[in-house]
Amino acid sequence: MINNYNLLKQSINLGGVTIKNRIVSSPISTNMATEDGSVTENLINYFSNIAANDIGMVTVGATSVSEEGGDASNGMHIGKNIHLNGLTKLASSINEQGSTAAIQIFHVGAQGNTFYSKKRVVGPSKYIVPDIGIEAEVLSIDEIVKIENEFCEGVIQAFDSGFKIVEMHLGHGYLLHEFMSAHMNRREDEYGGSKENRLKIVKNIFNKIEKKSKHAIKNIGARISADDFIEKGLDLIENKELINFLDSKKIAYYSVTAGIYETAKQKYLKMKEGSYWEYANNLKKMTQTPIIAQGNITSLELGEMILRKNMSDMIGMAQALIADPALASKSFKGEEEKIIPCLAHLKVGTCHRCRYLKQKDLSFECITPSSWDKNKSHNSSKNKKESFLKMLEKLKDNIANEKLENIEKIQKNFIDNI
Ligand SMILES: Cc1cc2nc3c(=O)[nH]c(=O)nc-3n(C[C@H](O)[C@H](O)[C@H](O)COP(=O)(O)O)c2cc1C
Ligand code: SF4
Repeated sequence: MINNYNLLKQSINLGGVTIKNRIVSSPISTNMATEDGSVTENLINYFSNIAANDIGMVTVGATSVSEEGGDASNGMHIGKNIHLNGLTKLASSINEQGSTAAIQIFHVGAQGNTFYSKKRVVGPSKYIVPDIGIEAEVLSIDEIVKIENEFCEGVIQAFDSGFKIVEMHLGHGYLLHEFMSAHMNRREDEYGGSKENRLKIVKNIFNKIEKKSKHAIKNIGARISADDFIEKGLDLIENKELINFLDSKKIAYYSVTAGIYETAKQKYLKMKEGSYWEYANNLKKMTQTPIIAQGNITSLELGEMILRKNMSDMIGMAQALIADPALASKSFKGEEEKIIPCLAHLKVGTCHRCRYLKQKDLSFECITPSSWDKNKSHNSSKNKKESFLKMLEKLKDNIANEKLENIEKIQKNFIDNI
């Protein structure tokens, strides 16, 4: 049956900004910035290519409000004069494609890693991520106030650069999430203890932004955790006060996610089951603010189904678009069979390349041919083609028939086209 994707094709208004359709490129960090966190040509090419392929909103991933807040040696930074020019070029390269440029801003907090960031690791309290093993230094009140101001300056610079939407990262166990979570925040001063105190940093940031620009708040979205999968962590019930506060500020949207570094395994299992869409559905019952669902959305068929069931207002995709940036354009043309899927979506555990770039010191490149930058000669190299075909062969072991057919189709398509 031909799918017209009628719901996905509808535009939506986020705080006065019209997004041309309901498809979001979820925030991805790509370690393609310079060492001082500035935008590079590679970053511009990457995100503008996604924007050119029928995506309503493209979210540039975790961009740090300070050097200490970064999580990689080539992560993006925001807030200093040196960043303005590159950010302006990046935003306009996305907007010029008829998409909407959004940027996510964050501070890595206690999940930082000195090995990659070359900076100290800080957090609300002493805390060690088991897999990293570095104890976070406890932030003083003066340092917290400085970070609040850096968030505020980051947001203002993002809008000044031409980003139409800014997403505050309040999830994944990063600094702002850490302050809100009783699992990670054990302070006994005005920033810890009661729920009201744990929310103080987030409230201060939003209030400070509002003071600088009343207008800005309505174009800010928030990525929040629907479940941390850990005792004393956050879930939608624990986040009720946060949601009430953000609703009262009339923010643009919520993007629903889950998990922290410590609970990564649970996170991927839940994501695979489609639980993240259920989280979006549950949040939708708590608020009138638009919701973006994501996590293992592998096709526009699935996205259309999520909207049809009224589980969310928009859908986000990360890996499916990394693997094939033209997924939406191909689907809109009825050429779904030409889409090359993310191999991790086809079979769990086959490929994690893009997720663990930092640890392996890899450049941001996906293994699928649909993601290869045709302008780079090494991308069409024999080695690369062979390694992709080898990977497909490996995928065929212990796989359900329906998926096997899928892989054989991809192999044929690929061989026919090289
Ligand atoms: C390479 C990569 C980088 C990511 N970077 C970010 C990020 O900067 N901020 C964020 O909130 N999530 C980030 N994510 C998570 C995605 O936004 C998304 O929520 C997750 O991958 C699940 O969606 P998917 O199944 O469509 O990939 C990243 C994911 C990947 C694969
Ligand atoms: S690098 Fe691997 S996991 Fe990442 S999008 Fe490509 S195929 Fe998927």
